[in-house]
Amino acid sequence: MIRLLQISDTHFGTERPAVMDAIRALCQLQKPELVILSGDITQRARRAQFAAAREFTDQLDAPLLSVPGNHDLPLFNLFARLSNPYRNYRRYFGDELEPEFETDQVLVIGVNSTRPGRHKNGELSDEQIERVARRLRQASSTQLRVVVQHHPVRAVEASDTENLMIGREKAIPAWVDAGMDLVLAGHIHLPYVLPLYGGQGEDGRQAWTVQAGTAVSERVRGNISNSVNVISYQHIQGKPRCVVERRDYNPDSKAFESALSTTVAISRS
Ligand SMILES: [Fe+2]
Repeated sequence: MIRLLQISDTHFGTERPAVMDAIRALCQLQKPELVILSGDITQRARRAQFAAAREFTDQLDAPLLSVPGNHDLPLFNLFARLSNPYRNYRRYFGDELEPEFETDQVLVIGVNSTRPGRHKNGELSDEQIERVARRLRQASSTQLRVVVQHHPVRAVEASDTENLMIGREKAIPAWVDAGMDLVLAGHIHLPYVLPLYGGQGEDGRQAWTVQAGTAVSERVRGNISNSVNVISYQHIQGKPRCVVERRDYNPDSKAFESALSTTVAISRS
């Protein structure tokens, strides 16, 4: 069995130390093959905030794959935003804005949905959509195929529709038909799992979007607590089985506790 730990929207600068301790403890227990950080790592893209975030992720003692979120580009410093928007991100989280992680059992593809010219919204270009589809088509039948970007592709609340990634109508069917199993995102601090379909709708291939809440930030939405997702994947009698477990922070036990487990069907012909 492999495990992936998705943490998102950490917004360093507004982090809660007790919740960080709980994530370190969870990581020691779960021993994920990979920690996936789906953007908004910092609150204001400041150097000290990235440094604190990197120190934290290094303590998790697992490989890390991250993508930037809109908060990881400078907001008020317009010169920096336009001339070198990813400078601080790259200094601490690596030059590659669209990293990949691959083993026999999993292929994880990072995509950068942020745009220096947009304040908050995310967008993908045709080139990005095609690059990811091409990579997905190269995956083996035993690999879990995961795409990660910051902006959501499906909403449950009507008010979140305006936050959906521009280009999703093209990206999602193309990626589902190319073999994607999961797309992981954050941005709206609301955890949920929803199905996605390819070009043939419900008669064709199915995939899932997995949204994460904010992992360690004070910027929780309403009364929704800090949360993370533990994704496990294994083959049982030759059949793939994937479970997305949402874990919520409980301030009484000071631990991330299992809140909801969703078994997601993996389409394999
Ligand atoms: Fe965001």
